[in-house]
Amino acid sequence: MNILGIETSCDETSVAVIADGREILSNVILSQAEHSKFGGVVPEVASRTHLRTIVPIYREAMEEAGVSLDDIGLVAATMGPGLVGPLLVGLTFAKGLAFARSIPFVPVNHMEGHLAANILQHAGLDQRHLTLIVSGGHTMLVEVKEFGEYEILGQTKDDAAGEAFDKVAKIMGLGYPGGARVDKLAVEGDATYFKFPRPLLKDDTFQFSYSGLKTAVALYLNKLSPAELDKHRADIAASFQEAAVEVLVEKTLRAAQRHNIRHVTISGGVAANSRLRQWLADRLEKAGKKLFYPTGELCTDNAAMIAAAGYYRFQKDGAGEMVANAVPYLKLA
Ligand SMILES: Nc1ncnc2c1ncn2[C@@H]1O[C@H](COP(=O)(O)OP(=O)(O)OP(=O)(O)O)[C@@H](O)[C@H]1O
Ligand SMILES: [Mg+2]
Repeated sequence: MNILGIETSCDETSVAVIADGREILSNVILSQAEHSKFGGVVPEVASRTHLRTIVPIYREAMEEAGVSLDDIGLVAATMGPGLVGPLLVGLTFAKGLAFARSIPFVPVNHMEGHLAANILQHAGLDQRHLTLIVSGGHTMLVEVKEFGEYEILGQTKDDAAGEAFDKVAKIMGLGYPGGARVDKLAVEGDATYFKFPRPLLKDDTFQFSYSGLKTAVALYLNKLSPAELDKHRADIAASFQEAAVEVLVEKTLRAAQRHNIRHVTISGGVAANSRLRQWLADRLEKAGKKLFYPTGELCTDNAAMIAAAGYYRFQKDGAGEMVANAVPYLKLA
């Protein structure tokens, strides 16, 4: 079965066609450049850009996949969490297509989409696994008992890890969105240059906190002269990244051990981080466990993961309701 996926929850307009929840036929992603001059996403600008681009992106995805609507057996679109205006554009477009052509429709939880990216790409992944969803808006450790059955072990009490990466990038003058730029710069830096706090590292829960780390970096940078900042830019990026990542690594390992889970996945934009991937893979391997992560394009927002989650939902529960509305604060479990 071919599944058409549509994702417009934030500032990526994306349409994908996948086959049977495993094979990507196309995954077209337009990252809206309009927001960079504002240093963050402007919801109204995002909605208008989705409106302008959804049809051409849809056509491109169908053409690249070499299919027509006659070949589509399921339409899936993100219903939340996300920005209400942007969500409505993709959701309404998807429902319109499905209704006009009598194709079953499934509304998708964006976070379930992120975790499904791993199921889509790794046939060898255990049904029961631990996942760290770490993105621009979320930082959560979830035990996946099977697709659709989740226990949230812990999440952030304040900011998401991706938000901290973006904020640090912004105050260091690296631009927006900055996570990938911090990662790239950190490769050349000395991660032991400055010891930033590791929030809640010693705390025995699986909760996270990133607002204090963000502030610690801001206060530290405030005291530096422009010359010092210029000289140690890469060292500071690496030192911040080390602090942010260490907490993710330690808590994920601890959760996998305590809950006796063999396979671990990471997903969401920060799962593209090179230090997180390498450090966590190494720690898990030493503990006899295995890490899986999606390719870079499937970490940040994309419609292939939404199509995959829609397909697994459809297999579990059948078609969804055509009346499904956008839910900005939709919960995973
Ligand atoms: N290599 C990287 N290292 C660290 N952070 C990264 C990297 N690449 C992307 N990011 C971060 O990932 C985030 C974007 O991820 P994603 O698109 O999943 O978030 P979102 O959709 O805005 O949030 P959510 O999924 O929680 O609704 C941004 O904060 C970005 O800075
Ligand atoms: Mg996302």
